[in-house]
Parts: sequence; structure tokens; C-alpha cells
Amino acid sequence: MAGNWKMNKTILEATNFTKALKNSTNDVTDVDILIFPPFTALYAVNNEIKNSNINMGAQNIFWELKGAFTGEISPLMIKDIGCSYVLIGHSERRQYFGETNETVNKKIKIAMEVGLIPIVCIGETLKERKDNNTFNTIEKQVKECLMGLSTEQATSLVVAYEPVWAIGTGKTATPEQAQEVHSFIRKVYKKIYNSAADKIRILYGGSVNPNNVSELMNQSDIDGGLVGGASLEMESFEKLVKYLK
Ligand code: PGA
Repeated sequence: MAGNWKMNKTILEATNFTKALKNSTNDVTDVDILIFPPFTALYAVNNEIKNSNINMGAQNIFWELKGAFTGEISPLMIKDIGCSYVLIGHSERRQYFGETNETVNKKIKIAMEVGLIPIVCIGETLKERKDNNTFNTIEKQVKECLMGLSTEQATSLVVAYEPVWAIGTGKTATPEQAQEVHSFIRKVYKKIYNSAADKIRILYGGSVNPNNVSELMNQSDIDGGLVGGASLEMESFEKLVKYLK
């Protein structure tokens, strides 16, 4: 269960939240817990998650290791600060910051080069769904984002299916709609990487909350959740980690 905090929480808020999360989930052994704090809180959060079952990731990276790229953050820096994961290609990055399948592909490759596990976000817009282009969009995203990866690399990353129309809108895909796309993603994977299709983890994201989490997680091709809004409050995130209403 992954919490994407987006542009929220100061260092103190992040530290307090992580302390509380650690206390309330120290008995959870069957769910991988992952949080994505903002860059500025990563160092402090890393100090709190030592000796816990919580892992940490960054929300973005640049596609080079170092150099004259003012304002960007290197994958090496992310690794150095204690992250094991990185979100790549979140729809907000695609929408507001010009991220494309091509830049996502570059970022996946460099993340893997330094040993970070990418969580690669894909998903259709409302227009694409209405125009019956959901599957075309998803197939194109999988192919272009993962272009040039070996089967081993494609197996070790995590895919997050996030219908753009469901992010931060309170509209969730029904469990059936989500399952349909998740199983399609595995089909596309099967065509390219064969056995990797059964091994990759595919998370669902888009208005996941304590009321819909268990239905979604019960679907056979949904392996976890990527949660924005409901990951910011302890009460709801704890329920999500434990799949409770
Ligand atoms: P949301 O965000 O849960 O607030 O819809 C999900 C995401 O953007 O990863």
C-alpha cells in the first residue's frame, strides 16, 4: 500500500506522521507499506523508518546522474537519502510538467541503473475513455514507457494504473473497470515479456479510500494501491494498510 503525499507536509508534519504510522503498523507483516514524502522531508522520514517495515520513495527524479540541470534531483541523491522506490510518470507530472512516455522511459532506465525500484504510472484521461481509447492508450503507454527494458527489468518494476479521471476527483473506477484494465496490462506484458506478466505488481490508484479499498484489493489482478488524498491522514491510511472500512 503506497501513499503519495504529493506537495504536502512540512518536515515536522512528515516526521510526526511517520512516527505514528510506525507505531500503528508495527504488527503488519503481510503488506508492504510505502510512503512518498516530498523531497524536503525525505531525510527526516528516513531517520524515522529505520527498523520498521515502512519503505520510502521519491515522487520524481531526473534522467541524468549529475550535471548542469538546475533545480533537478538525481537518482543517486534519492538513493543516497534512503529511498528504495521512485514514482515515475505520475499523471500530474504528465499534465503540468510535460512528462511524456519518452521521458518516463529515460527515468525508468536511470532509476534501475542506481538500484531504485520505479513505480511507473499509466492511465487514460476521461476523453480517452469516452472515445473508447482506454486500451489503445494503455498499450501505447506500456510499450513506450518500457521500451528497451530486459524481461528481468520489466519484472522488477511496479506498474500503477491510475485513470486520470479518478485522481483526486472522488470518482473511483469500479472494481470491475479497474480489474479489466489490470488484466489487460498483464496481457500486454505477456505479449512482450511472457512470464513476467504473472510476476509484476500492478497497483490501482485514483480515489482509493477505506470504503472502497477491500473491494478493489479483492480483484485478482490488483496487487495494491497508490493513494493520494487518503494517505495524508493517519486514520485513513492505517485503515488502508489494514484494508479496513
Ligand atoms: P488520489 O490520488 O488518491 O487523491 O486520487 C492518487 C494518486 O494521485 O496517486
